[in-house]
Amino acid sequence: MPHYRAEGDIPRKRHTVHRVTGDVVFEELIGADGFSGASSLLYHRCSPSAVVGIDAIDADPAAFQPNHPVRPLHLRTGMLDTDDSVDCVTGRRVLLGNADIELAHVRGSGRSALYRNVIGDELIYVQSGSATLETSFGSLAVGTGDYVLVPMSAVHRWAVTTPSIELLVISGSRHITIPSRYLSSEGQLLEGAPFSERDQRGPVFGPPAGNVEGEGVDVLVRTRHGMSRHVHATHPFDVIGWDGCLYPWALNIGDFEPVVGRIHQPPSVHQTFAGNGFVVCSFVPRLLDFDPSAVKVPYHHANVDTDEVLFYSAGDFVSRAGSGIGVGSISVHPAGFVHGPQPGSFERSIEADRTGETAVMIDVFSPLGITAQGLQVADPEYAWSWSRQP
Ligand SMILES: [Fe+2]
Repeated sequence: MPHYRAEGDIPRKRHTVHRVTGDVVFEELIGADGFSGASSLLYHRCSPSAVVGIDAIDADPAAFQPNHPVRPLHLRTGMLDTDDSVDCVTGRRVLLGNADIELAHVRGSGRSALYRNVIGDELIYVQSGSATLETSFGSLAVGTGDYVLVPMSAVHRWAVTTPSIELLVISGSRHITIPSRYLSSEGQLLEGAPFSERDQRGPVFGPPAGNVEGEGVDVLVRTRHGMSRHVHATHPFDVIGWDGCLYPWALNIGDFEPVVGRIHQPPSVHQTFAGNGFVVCSFVPRLLDFDPSAVKVPYHHANVDTDEVLFYSAGDFVSRAGSGIGVGSISVHPAGFVHGPQPGSFERSIEADRTGETAVMIDVFSPLGITAQGLQVADPEYAWSWSRQP
């Protein structure tokens, strides 16, 4: 949970009359877990409930096929039939998912529609490019290597500031948080946590780019049943101030401080976020295990209760060299399959003292399904990659 912030024009006491140029403003609570979790209060010039139209739009929920017979997968996002002219919301290609999580990829451009996801928080990893996340809380500039955490129900849109941007979208079914073991009982990031409050970037409050006046403003609302369109009488960015602990924020993966050891450390030391039914870990450039006899590539392991997803973001992936894995790849090593380093990688790692890889791992605690789009870019030879000679 981010820390308390107060921006713009807010009344001294909450839930009291507040006027701007004589007009009473409208207070909106955006809060998690009923009234028991983190929350913020936003002050609108017009009612945030004033809608003048509601309809369904043509966007079916993702259909997942079971991974049967169970096998390791390699999805090549570079082979997705992408069109850079799509936006970062409606252009997403869902690849993997279950009731707890969906993983999607998009290469988008321009400014997206206004959007809110009421299924859960979204954690978006920026693989390349830059954008401004425009929200009711202000604008958040994001770029390559950023994790962007957008709370459930927060109205926002993506304004891409480079020719295109490439995103890995992790959509949760509830909230995505900082692991509790990194936090004091009061919520401060502890000494020894792999990042600190200085690394968390919140939105800059001010007039958002674009028109905030006018009538008939569309907001796409994502639910488990698909996408709805709410036509608001006035723009939801008509906020004059807000305060609280619930707002979008960003963390760059380069600000994650890796833990290294004399012998190999388990992936849990790289945990960055916790979701409902999954965790997210960051693998960043770091020194390798430094005992003279240490095996510097991961040992074979079976995830007895986890489907392990790895998105390969940058650098060389020594442990999987020769498998076809490269930047933009997504591997899925499911429960029931023992996986380990590529044959020959141990020998190649003996003289190495550091790794330059950057990768995002998502460990999912229930079996993942795969969409037809995911299957289209799956490497049919990947399952045999460990049995090939180096
Ligand atoms: Fe693994």
